[in-house]
Amino acid sequence: MRQTLVAGNWKLNGSKESIQTLVKGIADGMSDVDGTAVAVCPPYVYISMVADLLDGTEIGLGAQDVADQETGAYTGEVSAAMLKEVGCQYTLVGHSERRSIYGEQDADTAAKFAAAQKEGLTPILCIGELLEERESGDTENVVARQLDAVIELSGVEALADSVIAYEPVWAIGTGKTASPQQAQDVHAFIRSKIAGLNADVAAKVQILYGGSVNGGNAAELFAMEDIDGGLIGGASLTSEAFLAICTA
Ligand code: PGA
Repeated sequence: MRQTLVAGNWKLNGSKESIQTLVKGIADGMSDVDGTAVAVCPPYVYISMVADLLDGTEIGLGAQDVADQETGAYTGEVSAAMLKEVGCQYTLVGHSERRSIYGEQDADTAAKFAAAQKEGLTPILCIGELLEERESGDTENVVARQLDAVIELSGVEALADSVIAYEPVWAIGTGKTASPQQAQDVHAFIRSKIAGLNADVAAKVQILYGGSVNGGNAAELFAMEDIDGGLIGGASLTSEAFLAICTA
């Protein structure tokens, strides 16, 4: 049985004050969350503060990105060891905004995935197709290519200690959610592709869905066989909206 995970990706949002309110609100509501693991991914500069606020709670902590390098002259980067030291258990890698806005390539994401695991962080590997790729029937090719870059570098076994987030790019921040069946179809494809290499890893790996998840659609999505939770953007920015998903 795979545990459900709901992770909030705050992106470039928040201030000290708003984040304190948000974390307190989530922590206060955790008594109503049953059988679902919960994590939040603040902007880098607030990670230490959030780690302190989360002390004594069950809420996990992640970063939104990580350097592919360990140390040295890489201005602006933050390493996996640093994230680990300040209290992270997770880091997102390959979010579509990193890929599409900042030009991150499959190989870059794979290197970040490996760097995270080397320090004992659990990478949340984000994959997903653009609207034109879906419309031209390329969804499976795209997610397979994105997954293969990681498998080639780290081996399929590495996926057992990771989380995969399928996020169709056309559904992110658009209010246009994939239907539960559309999402399930891609999740099943991802799991069967992994099963072709290692059935145990495929059975174990959590595959989250991301893209306009909210309190109204989460239960239906999470009820699908191969959907093991969600990666939440917009609806993770208030405790009420986020908790509605965590309890769904
Ligand atoms: P959204 O973002 O929930 O606002 O669509 C999801 C994500 O980008 O992870």
